[in-house]
Amino acid sequence: MPQQFGDYQNEIYLHGLGGVLPTLPMAFAELEARAEAALPPSVWSYVAGGAGDEHTQRANVRAFERWGLHPRMLVGAKQRDLSVELFGLTLPSPLFMAPVGVIGLCAQDGHGDLATARAAARTGVPMVASTLSVDPLERVAGEFGDTPGFFQLYTPTDRELAASLVHRAEAAGFKGIVITLDTWITGWRPRDLATGNFPQLRGHCLANYFTDPVFRARLKQTPEENPGAAVLEWVGVFGNPLTWDDLPWLRSLTTLPIILKGLSHPDDVRRAKDAGVDGVYCSNHGGRQANGGLPALDALPGVVKAADGLPVLFDSGIRSGADVVKALALGATAVGIGRPYAYGLALGGADGIVHVLRSLLAEADLLMAVDGYPTPADLTPESLVRLPHHQ
Ligand SMILES: Cc1cc2nc3c(=O)[nH]c(=O)nc-3n(C[C@H](O)[C@H](O)[C@H](O)COP(=O)(O)O)c2cc1C
Repeated sequence: MPQQFGDYQNEIYLHGLGGVLPTLPMAFAELEARAEAALPPSVWSYVAGGAGDEHTQRANVRAFERWGLHPRMLVGAKQRDLSVELFGLTLPSPLFMAPVGVIGLCAQDGHGDLATARAAARTGVPMVASTLSVDPLERVAGEFGDTPGFFQLYTPTDRELAASLVHRAEAAGFKGIVITLDTWITGWRPRDLATGNFPQLRGHCLANYFTDPVFRARLKQTPEENPGAAVLEWVGVFGNPLTWDDLPWLRSLTTLPIILKGLSHPDDVRRAKDAGVDGVYCSNHGGRQANGGLPALDALPGVVKAADGLPVLFDSGIRSGADVVKALALGATAVGIGRPYAYGLALGGADGIVHVLRSLLAEADLLMAVDGYPTPADLTPESLVRLPHHQ
């Protein structure tokens, strides 16, 4: 029997009958406000901020308001089945946790990567683990339970190091490699610039490098002996301005599915498909990298068309279950969230993430029930109405 995610509301109302009210926020605005209060200011501004005046970041969110879901009646959608097939895996829902490089720092105990992996184990919602983590990828994967996990690669300039990271991810049991293309250089981020704050330069979230034999072999002293020199070495290898010519090499590194993250233009999608990737990931990094103005959601239909059957992952701006449903209707195979689960983690550790995930899934499930779309396959672009005016 597929999970009926909407049942989360029964649990909450039943607790309410006993006088027990939710301690974690039910609305995104409150989640965000309380996370701001809970996080150290430098972590808050790094997580919440984006590129330039953050227009793209806001546009990502507002783009969902320009679509309305058309209710269909007399469908009898008593049972919903939100499960999806992805790279040969059956997932209980289309939701996943996008890679968040400083997720480790968002937890009260400083081990947010592990808490995220535990939340994945408890919910069946996969985690895409960032290259930039407090705990090494092997320890993160050790917490996944039966939920599949994906490894996000920031491709270093040292090809041997890239291969080592990919092979470690394979050995640790990750089910796919997400290669992020839009962050070989950091975008202009006024909030972080104003506070001179870039966590990795302070030595944070570099465990995957500092534990890597290839990285360590590049150093004269170990990262434990001379952390400053290790950080400088990291600065030198981090960002690789990849070109199409690098794709065959990346493809040759693994037989795991390869997914390219950060694609938006249909021509790029077609070219990626021709190069033999297994999935494309439409995203503008939550507006953190380029303040170019195109909401990720507006790029999605073109990406889906060009992908021509290849799975399309999507993120950037998802704040509610209704947003998840709209992204599915526009053709996403799976839908990711970034900041919302970071905020849940900040407030309640793994429990906080589980609450955020269950709330999004419950809202999506209940919307599909009420509006008569019992499965993701029932949601198509025709299920949506483009609203004439920005509300
Ligand atoms: C604090 C933070 C750190 C991030 N780090 C990474 C990362 O290490 N790798 C990556 O591919 N994307 C990273 N992202 C981008 C997310 O994977 C995702 O694209 C984005 O957060 C989605 O937008 P949303 O926050 O509006 O949901 C990061 C996002 C945030 C907020």
